[in-house]
Amino acid sequence: MVDWKEFTVVVFCLIVMTCYVVWDNKAAFRLPTMIPGSARVLKVTKLASSTPKTPTKTPTKSLEEGAMDQVMAHFNMTSVRELQKITRKYFSPERHIIDLSDLDNFMKKCNTKTFTLLNSKRRCNVTHSPVTRYRTCAVIGNGGILLNSRCGGEIDAHEFVIRNNLPPTSPYQKDVGRRTNLTTINRARLMQVAGGLRRKKRAKTLARLSESPGMIFSYSLSLPGSPSKKKLQAIDRAIKENHIDAVTAFSHRSYMSNKGYSLYKELFKKRFRLPSTGLNTFALASTFCDRISMYGFYPLPTYRNRSVPYHYYDGKMFNKAHKMPAEFETFQELHRRGTIRLVVGKCDEW
Ligand SMILES: *[C@@H]1O[C@H](CO)[C@@H](O)[C@H](O)[C@H]1NC(C)=O
Ligand SMILES: *[C@@H]1O[C@H](CO)[C@@H](O)[C@H](O)[C@H]1NC(C)=O
Ligand SMILES: *[C@@H]1O[C@H](CO)[C@@H](O)[C@H](O)[C@H]1NC(C)=O
Ligand SMILES: *[C@@H]1O[C@H](CO)[C@@H](O)[C@H](O)[C@H]1NC(C)=O
Repeated sequence: MVDWKEFTVVVFCLIVMTCYVVWDNKAAFRLPTMIPGSARVLKVTKLASSTPKTPTKTPTKSLEEGAMDQVMAHFNMTSVRELQKITRKYFSPERHIIDLSDLDNFMKKCNTKTFTLLNSKRRCNVTHSPVTRYRTCAVIGNGGILLNSRCGGEIDAHEFVIRNNLPPTSPYQKDVGRRTNLTTINRARLMQVAGGLRRKKRAKTLARLSESPGMIFSYSLSLPGSPSKKKLQAIDRAIKENHIDAVTAFSHRSYMSNKGYSLYKELFKKRFRLPSTGLNTFALASTFCDRISMYGFYPLPTYRNRSVPYHYYDGKMFNKAHKMPAEFETFQELHRRGTIRLVVGKCDEW
C-alpha cells in the first residue's frame, strides 16, 4: 500500500533539498548548529509515523535524505501530543484563523466573544479555516540571528512556513527562505499594510502580498466589531481586484499579548505576563503542526561575539518589553525534550 499524500510530500522535500544542495554547491547537506552552549540534542528516536514510505527500492539513502530523516527523528511524538492536548484547549484554526468570507455569517449566527452559537452553548460551527494539518512546519521569527544563517533552503523544505507581520523575504531568501504559507498580522502592521495600498506605496505592497502564492494573511487580534475590520476588508478587496493568490483570515478574539492566558501556566508552570508574538504563534501553530522547527528566535544582542540586530531586515535595537530570555529558555527546554526543534546559528555549518 502506498500512501500517495505522504509520498508526494517526501518527494517534494527531497527535490527542494537537492536543489538547495546543488545550488549551494556543497558536497553534503549539513544539519544546523543547534543551541549555543549545550550539546546538540538530536534524539535518534525512530518513530513509525516519521518513516518515509518509498514505493521504489532505494538501496542506499542519499545524504540529503539522511539529513531530513534526522530532522524528523529529533521529535518525540509522545511529547508533541502532550503539548497539543493542552494548546488545543486554547487555540484552534477554526477559531483563530477564520476565512474572512465567513465574517458576516459568523457575526449573524455566533456569539463573537464565546464562539458559541447565539442563544446556545454549542460551538459555533459556521466558520471555516484555510489551515489544515501539517506534518512539518517552520515558524520563523524575525530575529537578526537569521542574517547570514543560510537557513533558507532548509526552511523552504518544510511543508508549511509561518511568519509574523509580512516581513520581507526576497532580498534575504538565502537566509530566511522564499515561502510563506501563513503570516500573522498585528494591529500596527495591519494599519501599515492598509496604508501601503494608497498611491505611492501601492505597487510595493501588492508585490509583497504576491510573494508567496496561496499565502494566508491572518489578523491575530479580535476582528468582529473592531475598527480594524475596514482595514482588513480593504486589503482583501485589493487582493481580489489584483487577482493575487492570497487568502485573508481573522480571529474571533485576540491571541496576542493576552495577560490572562492560563495556557502558559498550564504548559510550563511559568507565568508569562506579556507573551511575545513568537510564543503565541508557536502555541497556535502547535495545534495544527506535528513537527515544528523554529528559526530566528534568539534573545541576546550577541552570538559568538558577533552583534545580532533585533530584526534581520532593519537596524532596530533590542526591546525589553517581552521576557525574551525566559521564553528562549522555555524553547530550549522544549527542544531538549524533542517537542520542537530550535535552530540557532548557521544552517550549513555543523
Ligand atoms: C518522550 O516523551 C515522553 C513524554 O514526555 C517521555 O516519557 C519519554 O521518555 C520520551 N521518550 C524519549 C525516547 O525521550
Ligand atoms: C453545525 O452543527 C449543527 C448541529 O450539530 C449541524 O446540524 C450542522 O450541520 C453543523 N454545521 C456545519 C457547517 O458543520
Ligand atoms: C506553501 O506555499 C508554497 C508557495 O509559497 C506552495 O507552493 C505550497 O503548496 C504551500 N503549502 C501548503 C501546504 O499550503
Ligand atoms: C569572544 O571574545 C572573548 C574576549 O574578546 C574571547 O576571550 C573569546 O574567546 C571569544 N569567543 C569566541 C567564541 O570567539
